[in-house]
Amino acid sequence: EDVKLLPTPPMGFNNWARFECDLNETLFTDTAKSMVSRGLLDVGYNRLNLDDCWMTHDRAADGSLQWNSTLFPNGIPWLAKFAKQHGFHLGIYEDSGNATCGGYPGSYGHEKQDAETFADWGIDYLKLDGCNVFAEDGRSDAEEYRVRYHKWHNILSGMEDPLIFSESAPAYFCTNDTDWAKVMDWVPYYGELARHSDDVITFYAEGSPWESIMANYHFHTRVVRYQMPGYYNDPDFLIPDHPGLSMDEKKSHFAIWASSGAPLIISAYIPDLSDDEIEFLSNKDLIAVDQDPLAEQAALVSRDSHFDVLSRSLANGDRLVTILNTGKNTASTKVSLEKLGLDSTCQYRARDLWTGAVSTIKKSIDITLDSHATSVYRITPPRGCTSVTPTGMVFDTSS
Ligand code: GLA
Ligand code: GLA
Repeated sequence: EDVKLLPTPPMGFNNWARFECDLNETLFTDTAKSMVSRGLLDVGYNRLNLDDCWMTHDRAADGSLQWNSTLFPNGIPWLAKFAKQHGFHLGIYEDSGNATCGGYPGSYGHEKQDAETFADWGIDYLKLDGCNVFAEDGRSDAEEYRVRYHKWHNILSGMEDPLIFSESAPAYFCTNDTDWAKVMDWVPYYGELARHSDDVITFYAEGSPWESIMANYHFHTRVVRYQMPGYYNDPDFLIPDHPGLSMDEKKSHFAIWASSGAPLIISAYIPDLSDDEIEFLSNKDLIAVDQDPLAEQAALVSRDSHFDVLSRSLANGDRLVTILNTGKNTASTKVSLEKLGLDSTCQYRARDLWTGAVSTIKKSIDITLDSHATSVYRITPPRGCTSVTPTGMVFDTSS
């Protein structure tokens, strides 16, 4: 990856988890206007990403992809211009196989032509999916994805204005640890972000959204060591208007994603989000953590039957601590300074990033959290007090 292409994780909107294939021009223009008027653009959400089903079932006579002109009457280049005029970048979706997951033409055999089409349309970000990929020349499935994503890496990074490359490849191997690890090993060098786990639940699907978020979070804690400036592990979309989530769960989802320097791509109907939802999504302290230039991903420091404790370093020397109550009941805990790699003979200033309250910590952080709620503290070491990487920190685990 090229650090300059995406120095901090991408932030923006994607239609998929909220609308699936039910996308059109008005959704995108209304979303953009709402992101401006509700302040989301100002705090950094500056990408509008089209997902699957934007195209027609057939390529044009010259082999190029075509947008569905019923859904996009003014055309995608017009939408890219509209996005730009309002302060956004437009991103698009394609697939490395014979067809997209939704059954539209895949890019296989048309890679260069499709990349040029997207660039001509004014697009600077490609999410490349991995449905309908069939191994060739006796290659293993994992090797086939590597060959295809490598080809795309060369094409996209070789363009006059390189496109940001969002890779879906690892998600296709998340049920096979050996192949998954192989794929995780190359994605950081081919693209700027990669989906390591299955799709976060969509608005219309049956099932528990909290369990879906936690499933992706568990994969996320396993890939901490891959993240670096210019490459971000992608645990999939934020889903703040999912009706199956409590407010604490929505805020925890955001807090964990921000703590880990993850892409913050909202898949929700922005005009209808409540003021409370807009407010937590706009939390400047948490966004600053997400966008911290060190680009570290918070790693697990400890896990017990109630609490996950995560920590990371920040560029200015502060240490972040994120505490999630994964249990079904309200519970209390003490997180010792020692466990966080801090000097237990010192007193530290801690800022609660949800409330803004500043307190002094001696020996431990003592808190009570409701079920599925999260607290995040930004801890500033005083002069002469050290902060070291906690010895219990887990960067790579298969559990
Ligand atoms: C896959 C991806 C999703 C979405 C759909 C579109 O499932 O993982 O994020 O892009 O395809 O069909
Ligand atoms: C399955 C699903 C796809 C996609 C992949 C990757 O194949 O059918 O939609 O989610 O897993 O997770």
